[in-house]
Amino acid sequence: MKIIGLGTDIVEVKRIQAFAQKPGALERIFSAQEIAYCRARKNEYQHLAVRFAAKEAVYKALPFAGIAFKKIQVVNLESGRPEVRVEDERCQGLCILISLSHTESYATAVAVVQQ
Ligand SMILES: CC(C)(COP(=O)(O)OP(=O)(O)OC[C@H]1O[C@@H](n2cnc3c(N)ncnc32)[C@H](O)[C@@H]1OP(=O)(O)O)[C@@H](O)C(=O)NCCC(=O)NCCS
Repeated sequence: MKIIGLGTDIVEVKRIQAFAQKPGALERIFSAQEIAYCRARKNEYQHLAVRFAAKEAVYKALPFAGIAFKKIQVVNLESGRPEVRVEDERCQGLCILISLSHTESYATAVAVVQQ
């Protein structure tokens, strides 16, 4: 497999916190599983922010445009390692890797696409 795409993003946690106050906002972008994962943690908005950064990073790394953020989902393995699942036929045969990190103020993600 060779690398065909690379993407990164950085998000201010306080922006996601403000966004989350709007009714229905989170549900438009995040899956129920993503929201449940974040809500179960102490720093809910850091986890939401890093998932937003992950969606942006994957969007940038993919070789096509126009995919809805809700179709890009972060799931965590039992070890905590994050994986990305993209619901789109155009992703068949692609391997997408992500790495996430967050602090009180910022969340960042990197995505690599291999084919
Ligand atoms: C898991 C670990 C890598 C997370 O790093 P951190 O600096 O605490 O936190 P970060 O903000 O950088 O990263 C958090 C993200 O790492 C990701 N992550 C968690 N476990 C992971 C793992 N096993 N592999 C890869 N990524 C992982 C998750 O995406 C997590 O965010 P999320 O819960 O919102 O999905 C860290 O806690 C750890 O266990 N390090 C092992 C090394 C160690 O123990 N060093 C101490 C030596 S003295």
